[in-house]
Amino acid sequence: MIEFRNVYASYNPQIPILKNVSFTVNDGDFVAFVGTNGAGKSTTMRLMNGLLKPDQGEVLIDGTPTTELKTSEMARRVGYLFQNPDHQICCNTVREELMFGFKALGIHTAEAEERVDKIIAEFGFNPSDDPFLLNRGTRQLLALASIIVMELPVIILDEPTTGLDFRECIKVMEIVKRLHEQGTTVVMVCHDMEVVADYAKRVIAMTHGRLVADGETFEVLRDAVTLATADLIPPQATALSMGLVDAHPSLAATDLASANTIEALEEAFVSYVNALPGNAYEASSEQGQGE
Ligand SMILES: Nc1ncnc2c1ncn2[C@@H]1O[C@H](COP(=O)(O)OP(=O)(O)O)[C@@H](O)[C@H]1O
Ligand SMILES: [Mg+2]
Repeated sequence: MIEFRNVYASYNPQIPILKNVSFTVNDGDFVAFVGTNGAGKSTTMRLMNGLLKPDQGEVLIDGTPTTELKTSEMARRVGYLFQNPDHQICCNTVREELMFGFKALGIHTAEAEERVDKIIAEFGFNPSDDPFLLNRGTRQLLALASIIVMELPVIILDEPTTGLDFRECIKVMEIVKRLHEQGTTVVMVCHDMEVVADYAKRVIAMTHGRLVADGETFEVLRDAVTLATADLIPPQATALSMGLVDAHPSLAATDLASANTIEALEEAFVSYVNALPGNAYEASSEQGQGE
């Protein structure tokens, strides 16, 4: 469990960045932090990982303030994917990179070697490749793999899909989804609202160093006032559903009013049309059968 209690934080005491931030991430949560550039999302992630300490208030990991936890104790509990993989990758080969976290904790076991071999096969890496010669998407996958391989209870991912193409993005997010299903607590910063809508269970919106919303994903993504406050645009399916209900309030009573994915919209639309009295679709198919 990660708790922020009235946290104020800054890089320079004259310039406050986080202002009275409080929230709790429970074990097994999948939380997405959203908000415009400069809102304080990465700063919040650094505090969770103990890289930054609060000026006031407390950040607690499983009840212990980060100010009292040693770096190695933090590293055993929380994995952290930097916003830029090049801030993380430091070894000469892919295999060394994947072993790095274990070595840093003084773990030199056969089990560690086995896990590294397994993840190399799973991701399709070449263990002898030089990480810096890989393309951006593969470097991002390597940075993520080097965290996953540690099998830590919590992973913090700062913009894990930035710089990835659509296929790579899905690959990364499906891996994260599987980890979450296996019990890992996932905290992610993400600017892609479609990804947030598809994967996160809970959304925390930030603006100017403060939280402006914290709730179930679609409670937050359908809250027009909050989204406007945080300068955010809802995912397309949600926007379309809200637009339809705005234009035709009678649709509020149908599943179209709560559809947040393209699949849900399609399903709701088909059942809506089928339920219309003497609807064109049924009429034409009956006609077709009659002929
Ligand atoms: N290392 C740093 N030194 C000084 N100021 C920083 C540093 N990192 C971020 N900031 C400032 O803190 C504010 C919040 O930044 P950040 O947490 O990175 O926002 P976000 O991740 O939401 O885009 C911004 O005004 C940014 O300029
Ligand atoms: Mg950031």
